[in-house]
Amino acid sequence: MVDILQNVMDHAVAVARKAGEVVRDAVRDDRKVMTKSSAVDLVTQTDQKVEQLIIQSVKEKFPEHRFIGEESVAAGEPCILTDDPTWIIDPIDGTTNFVHTFPFVAISIGFSINKRVEVGVVYSCLEDKMFTARRGKGAFCNGEPLQVSDQTDIHQSIIATEFGSSRDPEAVDKIFCSLRNILNLPVHGVRGAGTAAINMCLVASGCVEAYYEIGIHVWDVAAGSLVVLEAGGVLMDVEGADVDLMSRRIVAANNRTIAEIIVKEITPFGPIRDDAP
Ligand code: IPD
Repeated sequence: MVDILQNVMDHAVAVARKAGEVVRDAVRDDRKVMTKSSAVDLVTQTDQKVEQLIIQSVKEKFPEHRFIGEESVAAGEPCILTDDPTWIIDPIDGTTNFVHTFPFVAISIGFSINKRVEVGVVYSCLEDKMFTARRGKGAFCNGEPLQVSDQTDIHQSIIATEFGSSRDPEAVDKIFCSLRNILNLPVHGVRGAGTAAINMCLVASGCVEAYYEIGIHVWDVAAGSLVVLEAGGVLMDVEGADVDLMSRRIVAANNRTIAEIIVKEITPFGPIRDDAP
């Protein structure tokens, strides 16, 4: 019997590798920086070129599949997750890092059916680390199985987060309030790689106990969310409910104990949903 999801996984890995080559070649050259939703929400020609490369390649192989891509949505395509097989693509997660040659940049490709992510591929292309996950079949980095940390003591934990690209003063105040609460628990440290997808892979790898952020988009976290789950981790909304990938809010943790402590310290707010009309 044809294993469609394995075909999807193989294609996602192959095209992510190809995209990674383009990103690596461009990392010192692409200096034409444009902005999107705010003065610090950056985009380059490489983001657009890589998204086109991925979509073209997938369309040739899976002509009936749908797409949600960061740059296509920025160009006016709808961001609606249906039950149809859908590729959820961030061509460069960590565009600000890419622009500044800060060395964490990922190609993030999730694949969903019935609104559930079934395949996740995150290629940290400057480190040459290929993170892969398929529902029910585990998570891997360059073929090696991943396992979240077994830490249950928040005081012995490292937490990852980001400041995002909104500079709305109220949102910034809430972000700092959450950060202060978490630092003061205290935790061993707070880190941020500058890419949601890599932060989630760090949770899956056991290097940090949790990652949370308000303001991310579905393409930043679709693939990483499955990598976390398949490495034994948990996902939650920042107010403790089930995660909703369109809500732009996420807590990804090694276990429920750590996730619930983080949730208590977060000052929540609700950015406009990705699927808002
Ligand atoms: C961004 C990165 C960043 C996070 C932002 C995302 P992009 O994605 O993941 O770490 O803080 O919320 O939008 O714009 O580089 O694809």
